[in-house]
Amino acid sequence: MRFWPKEPFWQGVAVLVMAFLLIVFGIPYLPPLLGIPSAPIPNSVVVQYMLTALVGVLLWVSDNQTRWQQFKQPFHAVMVEERKKPIRMILLVLLPALIGFIAYGRVKPSLDAPPSFRAIHPAPPSSITFQGRTIEITGLENPLRTRGSLDDHYEEGKSIYYENCLACHGDLLDGLGHYSHGFNPTPLSFQDVGTIAQLAESFVFWRIAKGGVGLPNEGGPWNSAMPAWEEFLTEDEIWAVTIFLYEQAGKTPRTWEEHAEGGEH
Ligand code: HEC
Repeated sequence: MRFWPKEPFWQGVAVLVMAFLLIVFGIPYLPPLLGIPSAPIPNSVVVQYMLTALVGVLLWVSDNQTRWQQFKQPFHAVMVEERKKPIRMILLVLLPALIGFIAYGRVKPSLDAPPSFRAIHPAPPSSITFQGRTIEITGLENPLRTRGSLDDHYEEGKSIYYENCLACHGDLLDGLGHYSHGFNPTPLSFQDVGTIAQLAESFVFWRIAKGGVGLPNEGGPWNSAMPAWEEFLTEDEIWAVTIFLYEQAGKTPRTWEEHAEGGEH
């Protein structure tokens, strides 16, 4: 092999570089070419794999006395030999600079999103326009509860939920649908006592109809992925899926009387 170095030191370096490339690019990208699923590797795992590779290299170079001597030679040369002085000087500057850079990276203030100060349940508007019509939210009850059979509405709501909401809010209504991890804020769990259990159905109707874009400013700072369902569902369909949410999660909606007695969302 023409490009393969002869000195154990450079051989070791070459092995480590190849190991690094294999770990960082090979593991995530090669298996998919063969149709095997894979994923990017977290840094901590890269560090672990690299340490394993390093231990392997060290075992190999120290395996016999001659090779060990040859391996140590470049270190020795850089530290004492007169003609290696420039390299020595460069390393004397670069190494502390590198450590300083890493230390700086650790302590510098981060620009990440602050840990959520959003109001999850901002006050709903007193009325909304739904598909062009004005609907009063204040005092509004779910009309389907006094019309037809609850079982029918539940069944209809169920198929609406599984067609439209499952991917985000999850099979178990726990907010852990397949897409949920991609969103900030994450889809809410309807099992949680902090969500629909403490809301009136009119509030839930408003949220489903208007989605994330319909949230007032205090619902920020980050964009909610909750779609505005008035674009896809009829009024009755939204009421039906609301019934499904409460029945399936085993919660009862708050009523407007309870509200009047003094409760915030
Ligand atoms: C693309 C992902 C996505 C889909 C699909 C989705 N939601 Fe959401 N939903 C969210 C996110 C994210 C939130 C939390 C942020 C927010 O409140 O807007 C949310 C919040 C809600 C809330 C507010 C609950 C509360 O306590 O305030 C309700 C109600 C809701 N979704 C119902 C539904 C229904 C019903 C469907 C299906 C018709 C649905 N969602 C489909 C992402 C989604």
